[in-house]
Amino acid sequence: MTLTVYALLAFNLSILLTVVETQYIPKTCECPQAKIRIKGPFSDLKVTPKRPKCLQDEIIVTLQKNNSQLCLSPEGQQGKRLLKCWQSMQKDGKDSKKCIRNSKRSKART
Ligand SMILES: *[C@@H]1O[C@H](CO)[C@@H](O)[C@H](O)[C@H]1NC(C)=O
Repeated sequence: MTLTVYALLAFNLSILLTVVETQYIPKTCECPQAKIRIKGPFSDLKVTPKRPKCLQDEIIVTLQKNNSQLCLSPEGQQGKRLLKCWQSMQKDGKDSKKCIRNSKRSKART
């Protein structure tokens, strides 16, 4: 009797976890093509880590000047730097937008 209850609980929990996971992570790649370098400044930064349906990390930045979202390749220098910064912000529970605010270019603006 008790065993059945535990088994049922474990089953429900695994369903719950699956649901949460699919909510967070898109099923396919969001970026059909990514650029190696994008000229800033950016107003937003979003990263979707690699997953079974998309075998690469995706970095999506929002351009400040026209609000359009562009994909940045994680292979390039700029992408690598942003990805690294984003990961350390996640780990520390900090705002990942710090990664785009720190650029030299945005400092020159008022
Ligand atoms: C915004 O600017 C970028 C870079 O100049 C350009 O590639 C993109 O197509 C523009 N987006 C829109 C919606 O105009």
